[in-house]
Formats: sequence, C-alpha cells, structure tokens
Amino acid sequence: MLKVINVVGARPNFMKVAPIVEAMRGRADEFASLVVHTGQHYDAEMSDHFFRDLQLPDPDVYLDVRGGSHAAQTALVMQRFEPIVLAEKPDWVVVVGDVNSTLACALVCAKLGVPVAHVEAGLRSRDRTMPEEINRILTDQISDLLLTPSVDADENLRREGIAPERIRFVGNVMIDSLRANLERAARSDVRERTGVANADYAVVTLHRPSNVDDPIVLRGILSALEHIAARLPIVFPVHPRTRATLETMRAKEAENSVALSQIIFIEPLGYLDFLRLYSGARLVLTDSGGIQEETTWLGIPCLTLRENTERPVTIELGTNVLVGTSAEAITREAFAALELPPASGQRPQIPLWDGRAAPRVLDALLEASKF
Ligand code: UD1
Repeated sequence: MLKVINVVGARPNFMKVAPIVEAMRGRADEFASLVVHTGQHYDAEMSDHFFRDLQLPDPDVYLDVRGGSHAAQTALVMQRFEPIVLAEKPDWVVVVGDVNSTLACALVCAKLGVPVAHVEAGLRSRDRTMPEEINRILTDQISDLLLTPSVDADENLRREGIAPERIRFVGNVMIDSLRANLERAARSDVRERTGVANADYAVVTLHRPSNVDDPIVLRGILSALEHIAARLPIVFPVHPRTRATLETMRAKEAENSVALSQIIFIEPLGYLDFLRLYSGARLVLTDSGGIQEETTWLGIPCLTLRENTERPVTIELGTNVLVGTSAEAITREAFAALELPPASGQRPQIPLWDGRAAPRVLDALLEASKF
C-alpha cells in the first residue's frame, strides 16, 4: 500500500489532480491518497467550484496561504507543508503543473528526502521571464519521478541531463478530466446565460502577468478584441489578476471606452461551465497553457497571445497558432481563422492524450517504488 499526498494549489492544478485522486480511490487496496490544498487560489470561482465540478473530495489539509509576492507565497507554502509531510510520512508526494505551490512542495520533499513525482514534467517555453518556466525547471531537477505529457517533454529532460530511468511518458492527465466531463458539461446553461446560444462566438482568457499587469499592453490586446467583437460576440471570463488592471483602466477611460461594451465580461467560470463555453466556440484566444491543449483535443481553433509556448505539440499536431500580443497580429490572425470553415469535429490525435493518463501515473508510482 502506497501512501500518497496529492498537492493542489491553483486553478490549473485541480483538473490535473482530480483523475489521479479518483484513480487512487478506485485502487484503494494499492493506494491511500490524501489531498493537500495550499490555498494559493482561494476565491470560490478560482477554487471551490472546481472541487465541486470535478467531484474532488474536500482537501484533507488546507494550508490557507493566499497571495503575496512570489517569494512570500513560495516560502509560506514550504513552511506550512513541511510539518504535514513530517507528520504523514508519505511514500510519495505528487505535484502537478508549474505553479508556485508545485515548486514549493517539491522543494520541501527534496530536502526531507521524501520521494516526489512531478506530473506534467518536461514542458519548456525557454522563456525564463515566465515564473512558471523557473518553477518547471527547478521542480524537474529535484523530483524523483518525471511523468511527461508528450514526447517533446522527454527530450527536454534528457537534454538537461536527467537520467532516463527517472522519466516516464504517461500522457496528459488534463485530457482525462476533459473526456470524463464533456457529457456532464453539456447540462450547463452558460451559453444561454451569456446570450451566445445558437450563435457563432469567441472566448477569451487572459491572466499572464506580461499581458495583463501593464495597462498599456492590456489596452493593446483589448483594442484587437474590440475589432473582433464587431464581427462576433466575445465572452471573456476575467481572472482576478486581469480584473485588477481593468478596474484601474476603467476608472481612467470611463468617458471614452465605448467599444468595450461589445465584449461580454463575466466572472471566472467553474470547470463545467467553462468547458461548455469553449467547446462550442468558433475561436478561442488565450494566454493560458492548459487551454491550448484542451482546444487542440477538441479540434477548436486557438490563438495563443504569447511569443512562445511550452506546449509545441499543440502547434505541430493541434489547432494552436502563436500570434504574439500585437493588436495588428491578433486581429489579422483572428479574421483569418474566421474565414476558415468551422471545426469539423475532427479531433487531432496526440499520442497518449487518450483519457487514461491517470492510471499510468499510478502504475509508474508503483513501479518506481520497487527500487
Ligand atoms: C497562477 C499561476 C499560473 C496559473 C494561474 C492560473 C504561479 C506562478 N502562477 O497565476 O501559472 O496559470 O495561477 O490562474 O503560480 N487572486 C485572487 N483570488 C484568487 C487567486 C488569486 O484574488 O483566488 C489574486 C491574488 O491575490 C493576486 C492575483 O490574483 O493578486 C494573482 O494570483 P497568483 O496566485 O499570484 O497568480 P496567478 O496570476 O493567478
């Protein structure tokens, strides 16, 4: 029997951990699983709704860390996670993705000599100004078992000198969640609530600091969205980080921000509502990592508003196009994508994005425990 602590911290973690926890509960003779939530994300829309939608059990331990600078947040997660590991003495700690909580918990384990497995290992944007890139590189260096979503990730790790026996290609756990929840999501009325049912529409998400923290950069992106919104409605669930900048801008632009009324700004959505929304979209514009993968799996055109991606397979085999952040390029590429016939429902085939990555994570943990 393996005792495993599964760590979640921020929104993009929940849909990666849910299928792993579910698989462990289904193999209770082999795994005793605990969920520790660091509390990096704490708003109901950023956290609680995801537990409910993904049928994740309530966390066994909640560290209530919340915001702060990267240093403060990372340090507080470490400080609060260490006593949990000392008390629980797990055989493995599983961390996912690339958020501050991922690195903080992996570092605690490395120092205590507790085995740590990193799910979604090996992704690289090669852009060290991205906080997530630092988190990925460091987490991979100190984790014992590196579970990768795509073959490019294996290559990245080998190039960084990581021993091949620490690497296992297991596929994409996020796609496990997507496949498992498509049917339940169909019951969401989010398209009706936002007024886009039976229409062509686009969906936008933005939260990357480089896009949303500087009002001038965000203004540029919004001006592209205004052009696109003149052609089809855009639904924009707004991340708290983006909302903060928008509020400052709104205060300044109150008198002349007319065109923005064309964009449907809403609160961040839960997992099922958001899945329902983007799965019906004509076009998605995003700076998220996970959404590049989800749209690829569904065959929905995605424009990524960044200069690079750590998920090249979504470009090589999927529907993703990197467009950068200039208003001109975003507008041009969006109109070009809208000229193409709508997605045919044909789904790109990405190796091991088959809905069975979580059982492979469990198998890899068992196998690695033999030595
Ligand atoms: C974090 C992750 C990022 C991930 C994103 C998804 C890191 C380095 N970044 O970025 O990889 O794609 O989550 O959302 O870990 N806030 C709230 N309520 C919340 C959560 C955050 O108001 O529930 C506020 C915070 O107080 C802060 C801001 O939003 O002011 C940013 O939160 P933070 O957790 O620092 O990073 P994200 O930008 O969300």
